[in-house]
Amino acid sequence: MTLTNRAVIVIIGGGIAAYKSLDLIRRLKKRGAGVRVILTEAATAFVTPLSVSALSGNRALLRLLDAESEPDSGHIRLAYSSDLIVVAPATADLMARMATGRADDLATAVLLAATCPILIAPAMNPAMWQHPATQRNFWRLMDDGVEAVGPNSGAMAEPEQGVGRMAEPPEIVAAAENLLKSRSALLAGKKVLVTAGPTYEAIDPVRFLGNRSSGKQGYAIARAAAAAGADVTLVSGPTALADPRDVRVDRVESAREMLAAVLAALPVDIAVFCAAVADWRVDVESDHKIKKTGESPPVFTLVENPDILSTVAHLEENRPKIVVGFAAETDYVLKHAREKLLKKGCDFILANDVSPERGIMGGDNNSIHVVTAEGVTDWPLMAKDDVARHLVAYLAEYRVKD
Ligand code: CTP
Repeated sequence: MTLTNRAVIVIIGGGIAAYKSLDLIRRLKKRGAGVRVILTEAATAFVTPLSVSALSGNRALLRLLDAESEPDSGHIRLAYSSDLIVVAPATADLMARMATGRADDLATAVLLAATCPILIAPAMNPAMWQHPATQRNFWRLMDDGVEAVGPNSGAMAEPEQGVGRMAEPPEIVAAAENLLKSRSALLAGKKVLVTAGPTYEAIDPVRFLGNRSSGKQGYAIARAAAAAGADVTLVSGPTALADPRDVRVDRVESAREMLAAVLAALPVDIAVFCAAVADWRVDVESDHKIKKTGESPPVFTLVENPDILSTVAHLEENRPKIVVGFAAETDYVLKHAREKLLKKGCDFILANDVSPERGIMGGDNNSIHVVTAEGVTDWPLMAKDDVARHLVAYLAEYRVKD
């Protein structure tokens, strides 16, 4: 029981979903957690401090500069003495304030001072959820190491359907338990190397060969490994993503630069090759912009790039104890993954179907088949962050064969 005797702060934001937070408090208590509840000012319009106090067994906390608790910096003490903070509902406004590091009420001050894991359960109108500002704030929070559960799709308070419904209390409790488990230093003392993103192979100073990889899956793995206590190096091709917290990031462009950065990061215990490395580059890169001549278009000869995963997996010296590959396939997914496992010499492959209709590349979800020499295990469709946490748990249990 991961929640037993854990100090959990529930922060309730001002949204209609706040009524579900009362059930959440009850369920957390039932699992043995000690629960303190902070209500934002807007939240008090939806639930009363009295019902929160009655359910949690502790006085509801409302104000930052509360005369009773602040003489000894109550909000800092509160933040330090907690094992987990759950923000439910995390409204668009509360997420925006968290993402910009505001600390002008008790909820945001505690969140800013906290060093424990933070789980948010976003809830808002679908248009607000999809707004670029909210999406920006959400991903900023993910980069800062915050974890999320939901939002789900379904009927909303408004006569509208869409994504924005707060996750149900049992889902939030399960996510809280998983989060505490995954943060229990599963990879403490391990050095982990992750490659992520695409590579760009220059044709001339302005053009390149590349691919559609967003880097999200690799960044999520780096984040999850760091959260599990590993010393993580992320070698990343060009992406639009911010550096994850507590991760050493080495940004490169081409496959050859990526190989050099990877070799420089060795020795490590575990290497996860998530990058979508460009298979080819032009044999001769032009040092000036190639101009149209009005005659026949240029013809390029392609040469194969080094295979980074295969190079590392076949090293005589410094081979990481566990080498993990990905296989991005559009057909015969498992057959191709098995072939790659043998050819590249890695310990296991996470295979995914990247046909455009599956929306994996650039999307937020991933559907993984773990292919080992012994067989195949299917993981259900899940968010890339959950794939990352699953992988961390899998790596922590993985026994290297002699
Ligand atoms: N990989 C690598 N270096 C390369 C090509 C691939 O390290 N030059 C790694 C990827 O990071 C991934 C695995 O090899 O872990 C498989 O990548 P994938 O793109 O699925 O396969 P390819 O080897 O490129 O084969 P193909 O394009 O023929 O499917």
